[in-house]
Amino acid sequence: MSKTFYNPILAGLVLSAGVVRGADLPARLLGANSCASSSCHGGGGAEQNQFHVWSLKDVHSQRPFATLTTARSLQIAAALGISDPATEARCTTCHAPLQTVPTEARGEHFQVSEGVTCESCHGPAETWLRAHTRQDWTRADRTAAGMRDLQDVYVRANTCVACHQVVGTALLQAGHPELMFELDGQSVAEPKHWRTEKNGPGAQAWLVGQAVALREMSWEVAREPQPDAEQLARQQALWWLLQKVAATGAWPTPLPAGNEPTVGAVQKWADDFARAAANGWPEENSRAMLKALANSSTDFKNIPAAAAARRAERLVLALDRLALPVKNSAADLALNHLFQLAQSRPDFDAGQFAAALAEFSRTLDGR
Ligand code: HEC
Ligand code: HEC
Ligand code: HEC
Repeated sequence: MSKTFYNPILAGLVLSAGVVRGADLPARLLGANSCASSSCHGGGGAEQNQFHVWSLKDVHSQRPFATLTTARSLQIAAALGISDPATEARCTTCHAPLQTVPTEARGEHFQVSEGVTCESCHGPAETWLRAHTRQDWTRADRTAAGMRDLQDVYVRANTCVACHQVVGTALLQAGHPELMFELDGQSVAEPKHWRTEKNGPGAQAWLVGQAVALREMSWEVAREPQPDAEQLARQQALWWLLQKVAATGAWPTPLPAGNEPTVGAVQKWADDFARAAANGWPEENSRAMLKALANSSTDFKNIPAAAAARRAERLVLALDRLALPVKNSAADLALNHLFQLAQSRPDFDAGQFAAALAEFSRTLDGR
């Protein structure tokens, strides 16, 4: 198993898109207040209220930093020998990302307590703040100036997954909650400060999100000298799920060679697959994926219960998103049952789950 990976995505998040302001200095981050004037993103109308939506409704503005001062955080920190999680890079990299910005990239007005702020997602603003409002600027101009192109679902998935999937074995063992990235559901859960049509098809967001999640988990497993059994089981479960989707043939991304490809090969495949799925979306793909996954009950037989439980955990989220356009009340009931069964770890009963999955599949017949 090759272990020569670094995480280009996390590195990219911190260093922006490689756009510099000259003399190799990184572009500075200017802080949310630079976006907040009433003629910009702090206005009243729906076109200009992004600052208000973020600061008043989006958990990213308040919770991530505040979380680092809770008793639970202190407990996790203590187990890691960290005295103050609010100033420790191992925590702030996700919960208060401005803390990890080097001095030379700090603008005058930003505050670490902003939490996950405009520039955490849209990129450091120094190189584009003034010009990005120009009427003659295209999306390509803005991207070239260093603004992250979040309308591209692959770029968006990379932005969110950097904080939402992999925390590392040491943190998990210290009591950090397991993370599970799911771009479609989590995009719906984030109060939107953008026009909803910019979300694109939900099934596409779901798939691109799962593929980048697999890439990140594979990177994590490959990097750990002794991969944690739970982490490996979760990575294997997602790999199983995406192979099912790939078998529908909708995306011509060749699977890695051999029966048991290395984690590194899976990592690379997952990235190729994410790009392919982000690139175009024939609507019939959603249906084909749902069918393939709903008909997978035999895959829960003859594997260890712990592995089956991890498959179930990913699968129910997938069915939930993919069945949305075709659901009926019978499918709803069957899906609720699946969720209950999937949540029953460590007493997961694979036989019962397989039966409930077959039942769910029947509710979709003829639709
Ligand atoms: C710089 C890191 C970072 C980035 C980038 C980021 N998030 Fe988050 N997000 C967090 C943290 C940390 C929390 C948890 C806050 C807490 O509970 O302390 C969170 C919480 C959330 C929640 C609420 C979770 C819950 O269980 O209620 C949603 C939804 C969410 N993020 C969606 C997104 C989406 C969608 C994106 C990409 C567009 C994104 N996030 C990008 C760090 C990030
Ligand atoms: C890779 C990004 C990442 C890192 C690094 C990280 N966290 Fe988190 N953390 C998250 C996200 C995302 C959530 C939200 C999980 C959810 O709601 O689904 C979270 C949730 C939590 C929660 C639970 C919050 C709640 O009320 O449910 C605590 C406590 C916490 N983190 C503390 C820490 C501490 C302490 C550190 C450093 C030792 C740390 N985190 C490092 C991303 C991260
Ligand atoms: C958690 C990540 C995240 C944070 C934090 C965030 N944004 Fe966004 N923003 C997005 C995504 C995703 C989109 C939708 C794709 C796009 O239009 O680029 C978006 C879209 C936008 C748009 C375009 C709206 C439209 O309908 O065309 C504006 C303007 C914007 N954000 C401004 C801000 C400002 C200002 C802040 C801080 C006050 C902020 N964003 C914070 C992720 C984020």
